[in-house]
Amino acid sequence: MINSVDFTNKDQSYKTVFFETFGCQMNKLDAELSLGLLQEEGYKIVDKVDEADVILFNTCSVRQHAEDKVYSHLGALKTLKKRHPEVIVGVLGCMAQKDGEAIFKRMPHVDLVCGTRMFSRLPEMLLKIRNHGSHVLAIDEDQIVNVKRAVTYRPNFYQAFVTVMRGCDNYCSYCIVPYVRGREISRTIADVKEEVQSLVSNGCKEVTLLGQNINSYGKGLGGNVTLGDLLSELNDVEGLDRIRFVTSHPADISHDLIRTISHLEKVCEYLHMPAQSGSDEVLKRMRRGYTAGYYRDLISYTRELISHITVASDFIVGFPGETEEDFQKTVRLMEDIRFQNCFIFKYSPRTGTKAAELKDDVPDEIKRERNIKLLGLQKRISLEENTKMIGKEVDVLVEGASKSDPNRFSGRTRQNHIVVFNGSQELVGKLVDVVVHEVTDLTLFGKLTSCI
Ligand code: 5AD
Ligand code: SF4
Repeated sequence: MINSVDFTNKDQSYKTVFFETFGCQMNKLDAELSLGLLQEEGYKIVDKVDEADVILFNTCSVRQHAEDKVYSHLGALKTLKKRHPEVIVGVLGCMAQKDGEAIFKRMPHVDLVCGTRMFSRLPEMLLKIRNHGSHVLAIDEDQIVNVKRAVTYRPNFYQAFVTVMRGCDNYCSYCIVPYVRGREISRTIADVKEEVQSLVSNGCKEVTLLGQNINSYGKGLGGNVTLGDLLSELNDVEGLDRIRFVTSHPADISHDLIRTISHLEKVCEYLHMPAQSGSDEVLKRMRRGYTAGYYRDLISYTRELISHITVASDFIVGFPGETEEDFQKTVRLMEDIRFQNCFIFKYSPRTGTKAAELKDDVPDEIKRERNIKLLGLQKRISLEENTKMIGKEVDVLVEGASKSDPNRFSGRTRQNHIVVFNGSQELVGKLVDVVVHEVTDLTLFGKLTSCI
């Protein structure tokens, strides 16, 4: 365990870091914050492991597949570490929190295991390994993550993710997050607002607020603070154009919040609110705390107040006991709601969760089939919905040159559609109007009409 060791030695001979991130947006932001800290200590980021003095993996535990990938990457570093024992290899994030000490046993060439709430002390941990040659295990769960953000370091100058709460108290039966991310802790409104203001004064136009269960924001802060209060405060930040927030939980999102956001002009008309299944029996075993009917009513209410809002969802197929009839209910929910996009996952048992006590009785072949069917259905719906956009004018925050064609530019609408259009470098970071001419299931293609 890391404790009160003196880390005043500012030896700078370890200078290059290779950093790879797996998993969710929160992990990507933690990576960004960690790299910001390391850059301040003089580290240079490299994109090849054999150029690095320090190799770090920020890991995900949500499904077995994500863990297998990290272990395979770690295994592949054995030879490099034998040739260069001075290179530091570290595992950060959810898998580090979950497997802890066991990672050193399975992969003895790993030097650092740093959990989800300790990464703000990365520079000192690396120094300790360097100076004392010892392993460092840092998985204290009670830490409040407090990272002073290096506002200059973010992958996209005009957009930023901001963590407003960490952890989750929901304990959905399949989910490892509450065990690896700990209990819910919210940052204060003042703290978040200060960070957003500082990002905006550095050119940021759009913020996406992150929380595993963001509708619980404010719990524990006292004074009945809610996500609505935070959004209202941020709506007043001058120079900020757009606010997004993820991830919403159907049982925790309040009608009050929906009413509030319907009045806040900077909050984008996009809701990522995972349904997970369309079957009440499955939802009950998942411990989600709502029925498919409740979910449908919630979407109807939201669309009544915010007519052009788009909704995205996650679904798990092959949850224990999921019958063909259950699956068909999910298909119907998808057909009826017509999500803008969906993430679909095959159920993966996670040791320690409630669902892991149930028999994983849906054969992998069936999970695969159901996964493919939902992906196909969503693709069709996305294409049909996008086709309705042809001829319409949409407002786009320009993000940069398009990946597939550097002569074209891309950005997003408030409803989170990706738009590719003719443009020029000076439009990056600006709001522009684009008329849509052509679409695929993933992208709208159009022509610039004006720059706001
Ligand atoms: N197996 C498969 N998918 C899972 N998710 C969470 N836990 C599991 C699991 N054990 C999915 C849920 C969640 C998304 C982030 O990952 O759909 O919304
Ligand atoms: Fe996991 Fe449920 Fe919490 Fe989301 S709300 S992080 S699915 S336990």
